[in-house]
Amino acid sequence: MNLNFPQMKELVMKLHDERRLEACEYRSLLLCEDRSVIESLHEAARETAVRKFGRNIYIRGLVEITNICRNDCLYCGIRKSNGNIPRYLLAEDEVLGCCRNGYSLGFRTFVLQGGELSESSDGMIERLCRKISGEFPDCALTLSLGERSEDSYRRFREAGASRYLLRHETIDPGHYSMLHPERMSLENRLHCLHLLKKYGYQAGTGIMVGSPFQSVGNIVGDIIFIGEYQPEMIGLGPFIPHRDTVFAGYWKSPASILPGKTHEEEAMDLTLKLISIFRLMLPDSLIPATTALATLSSDGHEKGILAGANVIMPNLSPPAVRGSYSLYDSKASSGAEAAEGLDELKLQLDSIGYKMTADRGDFTAS
Ligand code: 5AD
Repeated sequence: MNLNFPQMKELVMKLHDERRLEACEYRSLLLCEDRSVIESLHEAARETAVRKFGRNIYIRGLVEITNICRNDCLYCGIRKSNGNIPRYLLAEDEVLGCCRNGYSLGFRTFVLQGGELSESSDGMIERLCRKISGEFPDCALTLSLGERSEDSYRRFREAGASRYLLRHETIDPGHYSMLHPERMSLENRLHCLHLLKKYGYQAGTGIMVGSPFQSVGNIVGDIIFIGEYQPEMIGLGPFIPHRDTVFAGYWKSPASILPGKTHEEEAMDLTLKLISIFRLMLPDSLIPATTALATLSSDGHEKGILAGANVIMPNLSPPAVRGSYSLYDSKASSGAEAAEGLDELKLQLDSIGYKMTADRGDFTAS
């Protein structure tokens, strides 16, 4: 569908007013290269976020508890078959130490993220949840530990975790199978997302943008899925190749969705558009300006916020292990991306007229 300039601007208004578009209309927005239309999309999303949250950005302290993973996702630097990184698992006291440090810095949400450990880790994770929620009753605890059993999700919830991040990565089963080994299935990922809702988590899902083999049609499918699933949080980050994966050289190939752009430009453009689209579709949702966005561009945080994001997740992990949590090459983990760099982050936010808030930032429907 080729729309002219006024028609494209009408699409932005329609998304703003009705909170949904037809599949072909999402497609037109994603493919649109007109700067003024794109700016009006970001502006509408930004205004929606400001109306709901003010110029406040929530901060979440990210503790990367382990890079040990039983999975072998083709795109991920901590995949099981990567023998080039030292593996670590933080001791329970180390994780608690990160949280104490974070608490004194002003964090009121902790996110425990890690590779997918085997079920034998359930007891340890459950204990951690109890200790953290016991010691910091005024904080929210988020987990991002992959696909687990129904029993595990139930136990962690009862032990005090109230939010869970699990990106679906792509809603197209064919595309999913091109990014994951045979033993993983989209079906199970969606089952896990269902369980998270069943046990009362605030749930986050999302995708990598510009991942190998991704088509514009795939992304439209992801938008429609997320609209139906109604997550409280939406994680969107550009795909960035990792040197120890089969996709190491992916950025050398021509970009496919927005021909004429580099992969980096394409992923940035589409990620920012998606942040805006989701802000307009789900105005109350919590959408981070992700580390991957900040890795791709030094002003990624600012760009994400000006497109409608309202969360930043600085790294609270012990500095000694940060280099080993290498999901993709050159992953940012210092400066404004790190808990000890909050002053730098404050300056970044200040430069665009925003400030960080100590509020735990629970999802509330308006
Ligand atoms: N580029 C960008 N994001 C990645 N992730 C994993 N590998 C990469 C990569 N190479 C993302 C996945 C996962 C999240 C924890 O990190 O989307 O869900």
